[in-house]
Amino acid sequence: MALILGLESSCDETAAALVTSDRRILAHTLAGQEAAHRPYGGVVPEIAARAHVEVMAPLVEAALAEAGVTLAEVDAIAATAGPGLIGGVMVGLVTGKALALASGKPLVAVNHLEGHGLSPRLSDPDLAFPYLLLLVSGGHCQLLLVEGVGRYRRLATTIDDAAGEAFDKTAKLLGLGFPGGPAVEKAAMAGDPHAVPLPRPLVGSGEPHFSFAGLKSDVARKAGKFPVADLAASFQQAVVDCLVDRTRIALRSVRPTALVVAGGVAANKAVRGALESLAAEHGLRFVAPPLWLCTDNAAMIAWAGAERFAAGLTDPLDVPARPRWPL
Ligand code: KG4
Ligand code: ZN
Repeated sequence: MALILGLESSCDETAAALVTSDRRILAHTLAGQEAAHRPYGGVVPEIAARAHVEVMAPLVEAALAEAGVTLAEVDAIAATAGPGLIGGVMVGLVTGKALALASGKPLVAVNHLEGHGLSPRLSDPDLAFPYLLLLVSGGHCQLLLVEGVGRYRRLATTIDDAAGEAFDKTAKLLGLGFPGGPAVEKAAMAGDPHAVPLPRPLVGSGEPHFSFAGLKSDVARKAGKFPVADLAASFQQAVVDCLVDRTRIALRSVRPTALVVAGGVAANKAVRGALESLAAEHGLRFVAPPLWLCTDNAAMIAWAGAERFAAGLTDPLDVPARPRWPL
């Protein structure tokens, strides 16, 4: 049994967690920055980096205290090394390097996307490789066949916006504020998903990829002409239809053990529900992490660290922070 300390700071959440290789989450501490970014309607990289600096060390201390362990009892230190806002990534990675150097423990540089992608195996011990992963976050929208730790076959990606980005931009257009995804979901509850005719980019085409820019532009054209709740509900339904259609196409070419969804947009109940039905249609298991594990957190980084550590994959202390890092 290994004990891993995980650190996350690639966007606007600072977090630390202690997770064991037998899937026990001993501690998780997290500080969001929503209030700091809200006046700007989006994440401001400079503000984010400064906020990470202020809270990272206290969060690590609090996590160790919550778990009742010392750094000496930790087997490895996992930190997000990218992709993300470089100033923020550097804060977590440098903290991880310093702790690794001071304690003599190995460092595991984790790809944030791998953190999202392996997180369903933290919450579900029975999830076996290969699984089809729909990874939907603020920066990414991909379909991956997860064949093993570090073995990801990309089947589709977005040709313009990510799904979460589309939610965030639409929220801004509709005056629903920041962060956008949860705001659109909430507004959509009071709306009719079929009230506003909106496009489903690429649906019906053999093309495997995603596209959301045209959908967002059409919401912009129709904003003000329909009730906000109907626009939100119709937009959300269009995104769901796109995600389901593209996933259905991917399922033609692979034989996974399960259909899995992860990333911030996986917290959306309409998205989860539609994918669950799609999985049932194909006689596949459906796995989605609990909501708190879908949005950015350090437990998923610690878990990815545990999986990589078990596979003997540690990193040198001069491993770079990477703003871009495809899986
Ligand atoms: O994974 P995540 O926390 O950070 C990134 O790695 O990007 O994902 C954040 C994204 C944001 O775009 C946010 O609006 C979206 O996930 N999101 C949601 C919901 N909760 C978060 N989108 C739709 N419905 C939600 N309930
Ligand atoms: Zn993320």
